Amino acid sequence: MRIGLFDSGIGGLTVLKTLKQKYPHNDYIYYGDTINLPYGTKTKAELLTLASKNIEFLIDKQVDMIIIACGTVSSNCLNKLKATYNIPIYSIVEPTIEYLNQSNYHHIGVIATPATINSHIFKHNINKVVIEIATPKLVPLIENNELNKIKEVLNEYLGDYSHKLDVLVLGCTHYPIIKDYLSDSIDIIDMSKLVKLDYNIGNGLIEIYFSKINDKIIENTSRILNDRKYIMKES
Ligand code: DGL
Repeated sequence: MRIGLFDSGIGGLTVLKTLKQKYPHNDYIYYGDTINLPYGTKTKAELLTLASKNIEFLIDKQVDMIIIACGTVSSNCLNKLKATYNIPIYSIVEPTIEYLNQSNYHHIGVIATPATINSHIFKHNINKVVIEIATPKLVPLIENNELNKIKEVLNEYLGDYSHKLDVLVLGCTHYPIIKDYLSDSIDIIDMSKLVKLDYNIGNGLIEIYFSKINDKIIENTSRILNDRKYIMKES
């Protein structure tokens, strides 16, 4: 199975990593649109244009299905994209919502980009108390590898809430990269862990494309995947 994944940058690599561990035989083709990063401050119309271009890139690479490895595009454009393209398209947000609705959690915190929070996808689809917190400073810090500032920024965003929450959802695929900076006194949900595939068949190849590559992207990719067995190209 050739599985296409896309995100604005390195964040979706956290989804690729989880899927590769769980379903190692599939082939994975990843596209990170680093030229247009961040997606989290863009309008729905802008996101739809960018996501369509990314999907067409992956269709040209002959993928059999696409997983949107981006919370922002998933929460703003999923239905339109599904209706436009003749290829199965899944997101990481749907399985997360399904899981939370069936869980015993009552007070759910979600941190995500402003565009995801403004869509209220979690609040509108989960039958529990949902506290949505926009965390716009995180993606630029993660992409630029400025991890020394993460703790302070997380305290700024979560300080007033953490004691009121049973669980914290990482509503952006960049955030599992910084999960070690979050308190271990609360359950954390990495959305990629809830994605289930029906297939595990292929040559186990990984191709990674970015619209712009620089040294930080090269370094971050190898750190996140912790594996050198992939092909990386600018496209
Ligand atoms: N990783 C993305 C998400 O899951 C996009 C972050 C961004 O580019 O702002 O929302």
